[in-house]
Amino acid sequence: MNYVWLDCDPGHDDATAILLAIHCPNIHLLGVSTVHGNATADNTKINASRCLYAFAAPESVKVYGGATRPLLRPARHDPEIHGPDGLGGVEGLPSVESGSVRERIESRPAIEAIASAIRQTWNGGAGAKVTLVASGPLTNIALFVSVYTDLFDAIERIVFMGGGIGVGNRSAVAEFNILCDPEAAQIVLDTPIPKAMIPLNVTHKAIVTDSLHANLINPTSTTHGAPSGLPSSRLRHTLSTLISFFRETYKSTFGFSDGPPLHDALTIAYVCRPDLFTRRRYRVDVELSGVHTAGQTVADVWEYLKGDDTWGRSGKNCEVATDLDIAAFFELFFDCVANCDEV
Ligand code: BDR
Ligand code: CA
Repeated sequence: MNYVWLDCDPGHDDATAILLAIHCPNIHLLGVSTVHGNATADNTKINASRCLYAFAAPESVKVYGGATRPLLRPARHDPEIHGPDGLGGVEGLPSVESGSVRERIESRPAIEAIASAIRQTWNGGAGAKVTLVASGPLTNIALFVSVYTDLFDAIERIVFMGGGIGVGNRSAVAEFNILCDPEAAQIVLDTPIPKAMIPLNVTHKAIVTDSLHANLINPTSTTHGAPSGLPSSRLRHTLSTLISFFRETYKSTFGFSDGPPLHDALTIAYVCRPDLFTRRRYRVDVELSGVHTAGQTVADVWEYLKGDDTWGRSGKNCEVATDLDIAAFFELFFDCVANCDEV
């Protein structure tokens, strides 16, 4: 069993990560924390709670709000992609005012809650390690690893969606999550805990094409091509509206014509089925000050940095996903949707 804490900024694809974290058979979701990012910290916190309700998470899984801004820079959000509240166009989620949404949100700060869940699960070494999964800017995780150094042994790995090798989506070379808080990302990369990065190069392969969307709406339909017909459940209706909105914003903003990429769902897939990924270990650092390159993840793919760089850093510090078994990933995704449908 993989004991997982999910730190996220929902966000359409974060919502799919939440669904997988609840319904992957070998994942035990301990809790969810939220961070500024796709929308304000207030919105991402409420959205996480709305998703937990809509995706039938056990009552024990609570939401804890974290950082409202990056460590050094002003907060930036992404209404162009995710709508003004972070989950634009998604139908069938409980309303923001609903009691079930409010009741799941705890007042304890995120990093305290993460520490306590890890401590309890680890139980001084008699229990299990916890995997920290991050699908938004890394501010909470950077704060956590800066404060709770005594818990490093209790962490299996930090898996994060972010960065790109030679590509970006919010500048020529910077990916949104890393660009939001590059200093936090470097702090995480410097931490002596095993890490895995799922970059854009791989997440851009997890595209929900029209025929996958049609299959999501109704798995028993024999129709191929453009989605049509009524969704076979409320859940599938919600997911279909999520994909439709995300598809349109990806098309208008980035010119993606095949469908939207499920970036964040890959973090949970990585924990649950690492065999779906090709992986390499690299030295990865973050460009913190470049005029054209701030927020770029710089991966030393040719192992150029044999010794210390000017910051005294050296050595491979991160496993990086370099390829994905796309069909097997979507099989896993559809299995989780079916599991959720049964609850
Ligand atoms: C990342 O940024 C956000 O738009 C998504 O939720 C994902 O985590 C992709 O660059
Ligand atoms: Ca995200």
